[in-house]
Amino acid sequence: MTTTYHPIAKSLHWLMAVLILGLLALGIYMSDLPLSPQKLEFYSWHKWAGVTVFVLVWLRLAWRVTHRPPALPETLAAPMRLAAHAGHALLYLLMVAIPLSGWLMSSAKGFQTVWFGVLPIPDLLGRDKALGDLLQQAHQALNLLLMLTLAGHLGAALWHHFVLKDDTLRRMR
Ligand code: HEM
Repeated sequence: MTTTYHPIAKSLHWLMAVLILGLLALGIYMSDLPLSPQKLEFYSWHKWAGVTVFVLVWLRLAWRVTHRPPALPETLAAPMRLAAHAGHALLYLLMVAIPLSGWLMSSAKGFQTVWFGVLPIPDLLGRDKALGDLLQQAHQALNLLLMLTLAGHLGAALWHHFVLKDDTLRRMR
């Protein structure tokens, strides 16, 4: 039985953590700025990093289904196990749904994404203002859910480390 995560799983976890925290901060900051060339540049960087997360999450899911992660601590009660598995499943779901909603929103609003200014990403929807506004709300709501889930994820990691004093956080280092 493995007792720690594979270096590939660890790298994907921390790389995506940095990207997602950056995307949350940039997303909240940029959307309230007055229209300017700087704001549009922030939007481009946000979209490029978001598409990168969308690519990485599929690699991560492929890795996850082909490599069993280390088991949860045996001392963990059944409801906590269930909460851990449900929380992780929700995080995977949001890592797919959030960039997808951003991509769909940009398509419906008529702003094609050109990844790092080099690779045009096809628009998934035709231009439709009402649908674009709806997808913008969906993107916001999903991000709120992500922030709540991440708070639980971080809280659980710290609780394992400092209260239960098990190796849950260490094995992801
Ligand atoms: C994991 C990936 C992503 C995260 C965590 C994320 C997060 C966020 C957040 C927190 C906001 C601010 C929402 C608010 O107004 O409160 C935002 C806005 C936005 N996001 Fe994302 N995003 C991601 C991916 C994407 C992608 C892939 C695209 C497009 C290709 C995109 C396009 C946008 C746009 C255009 C806005 C501004 C909407 C507005 O003007 O209000 N996002 N994002």
